Amino acid sequence: MKDTVKRTPEGIKLHTPEDFEGMRRAGRLAAEALDMIGPHVVPGVTTEALDTLLHDFMVDHGAIPATLDYKGYPKSCCISINEVVCHGIPGKRVLKERDIMNIDVTAILDGWHGDTSRMYTAGEPKKFARRLIDVTHETLMRGLATIKPGATFAEMGRAMQSYAESEKCSVVREFCGHGLGREFHEPPNVLHYQAGRTDQHFAMQQTKMRPGMFFTVEPMVNLGKRHTKVKPDGWTAVTKDGLLSAQFEHSLGVTEDGVEIFTLSPAGRFHPFGSAA
Ligand code: MF3
Ligand code: CO
Ligand code: CO
Repeated sequence: MKDTVKRTPEGIKLHTPEDFEGMRRAGRLAAEALDMIGPHVVPGVTTEALDTLLHDFMVDHGAIPATLDYKGYPKSCCISINEVVCHGIPGKRVLKERDIMNIDVTAILDGWHGDTSRMYTAGEPKKFARRLIDVTHETLMRGLATIKPGATFAEMGRAMQSYAESEKCSVVREFCGHGLGREFHEPPNVLHYQAGRTDQHFAMQQTKMRPGMFFTVEPMVNLGKRHTKVKPDGWTAVTKDGLLSAQFEHSLGVTEDGVEIFTLSPAGRFHPFGSAA
């Protein structure tokens, strides 16, 4: 069959109004899964138990957990605690008071991918941990606020980097957001910083946003230095300096006059202690 999907010269897909409807449903289910898990994030629970709850929630609602068996990844979500930047694998670890963590789920519903992550805390977080979570959430909001037809990915990266650095935090560069839709990860790479002229992503970042583009924005922000390393398990990325890292992620579509977020929390609990949806 002929591939009738429209693309930009850079190879970024431009989706139809029916495609938006598919993403709305997948995004909403992923957000509902994250709403569901909130009350279960308490000291004493294992990350494996949280993973099972998320797996069963997605399957019970007719979805497939996209990360399960994705490039060999063994679980239905990622849980990245404290100094873990991303791709933490659920297992026997028991949550303890003051742990902060990102939980990242991707639900495939009727072939569409809804990808979202938020921060949670086991009990009361320390003050500096709470501040990092606030700064990271605001970093995502500053990025989202730049999205409209004609805006460049460079402008969005700059908005996030300049805000996070003004708060004396740093933005991770080794991991980025991504196009998604019928695929989990596809062009473009969505950087959360502004690429310099010698950066391999410089040219791509000058691309202008167009209606029908679907992508994620998912900044990882560190309290210390931006550098990361991957553990011997091949997945778990941690800060090199061992200091805390946080992340929030939404899936979205560019519209004629701005942006539609597909993964807003129906319960208004995207930010763990703010009122922001
Ligand atoms: N959900 C992650 C993202 O935001 C990807 C996780 S891939 C996995 O893109 F294999 F690590 F699960
Ligand atoms: Co993502
Ligand atoms: Co994700």
